[in-house]
Amino acid sequence: MAWYKVGKESSMKDGDLMKTKVNETEVLLIKIKDKIYATSCYCTHEDYDLSEGFVDDGKLICPNHFATFEPADGSVVSPPEGSGDISPLKSYKVKSENGEIFVEVT
Ligand code: FES
Repeated sequence: MAWYKVGKESSMKDGDLMKTKVNETEVLLIKIKDKIYATSCYCTHEDYDLSEGFVDDGKLICPNHFATFEPADGSVVSPPEGSGDISPLKSYKVKSENGEIFVEVT
């Protein structure tokens, strides 16, 4: 595991989603209030790019069929209607130092 600098805190505002690439791994940064979370970037239902999704009431929403995920741990809050269970997103640790965002990726 190693920490990688992925951007500046000031470049994200509340509700922003930002896709970044760390060592061939695409990571989605999610800012909610003053906290930044990091998950895998593609919906586990049909691989839709979640950087095109949105945040509603503190949850990450896939715009394709509206699966809802918990940004803090990638867990599924609700799968798309009628789809049955879907897998959670991967979750990555995030830290901020001197205004820079770091993500821990293997
Ligand atoms: S692809 Fe995300 S909910 Fe279907």
